[in-house]
Amino acid sequence: MTRTVYVNGEYLPEDQASVSIFDRGFLMADGVYEVVSVLNGKLLDFDGHMARLQRSLAALEIVNPLAENEYLDAHRTLLDRNAIIDGLVYLQVTRGNPGDRDFAYPPEDTPPTVVMFTQAKPGLADAPAAKTGWKIVSVEDLRWGRRDIKTVQLLYPSMAKMEAKSRGADDAWLTEDGFVTEGTSNNAYIVKDGVIVTRELSHDILHGITRAAVLRFAAEAQMKIEERSFTIAEAQEADEAFVTSASAFVMPVVEIDGKPVGTGKIGAIATRLREIYLEESRKAAV
Ligand code: PDD
Repeated sequence: MTRTVYVNGEYLPEDQASVSIFDRGFLMADGVYEVVSVLNGKLLDFDGHMARLQRSLAALEIVNPLAENEYLDAHRTLLDRNAIIDGLVYLQVTRGNPGDRDFAYPPEDTPPTVVMFTQAKPGLADAPAAKTGWKIVSVEDLRWGRRDIKTVQLLYPSMAKMEAKSRGADDAWLTEDGFVTEGTSNNAYIVKDGVIVTRELSHDILHGITRAAVLRFAAEAQMKIEERSFTIAEAQEADEAFVTSASAFVMPVVEIDGKPVGTGKIGAIATRLREIYLEESRKAAV
């Protein structure tokens, strides 16, 4: 089955969909994106992702070209046309096509480019890795200073992912001034003596939608939370570690830079948070 994708209001077979070579997203990484997960044909945390999209666009002074209900319609149409049960919807909005290359932003009436496509991931919630956990290596964080804006500048996270793979790990945790910022495409946590520790929100990390939900569920379950920075050495001495993202949900971490975390097996708190997150998000899914 050929995938149907969305480009600027049109639904097209993927091999007929295109954007201009002058698009600012292509030439300047001048665009933002969202990834929404889909379980049982429904969208998880959709409102949260739309709120962050709006925030990212506003930070770059790009006028949001669509209303939330138009994004929702497009997401649902793509799920339907591509018969997606479990998977992801990728959405990207760029500053559009000025018709040439120039560092200055184009005139304000240049329409943004909107692209959306689905990725089928049957059994997404039952990923085998959630039972065994991820191995992590630390890599210096060389990204720019506005990581709270979800831009499509993903070259450095990609390089860090490749570094992790070349060292036999599943992902990298990025460190700056000795402290962990976040994973290549997820937020990072440790657990020590029952306290969940994760870096506080700032320009240094993406404000994860899954992070917000998981911390809310943890608080509701009377778990203790500390929002502060931690080092790799502290993480290696922790009882548990895990990451969160729209695509990995809550994923246990069992090894950091070659050292086992806790028992070296997936932790009870990460496992419980994964269960709660999946249960509650499925209930609230649209
Ligand atoms: N990545 N930090 C970074 C750098 C990310 O790229 C992501 C998400 C997160 C987690 O955010 P959320 O819980 O809202 O997904 C944190 C997506 C999944 C991606 O790039 O595919």
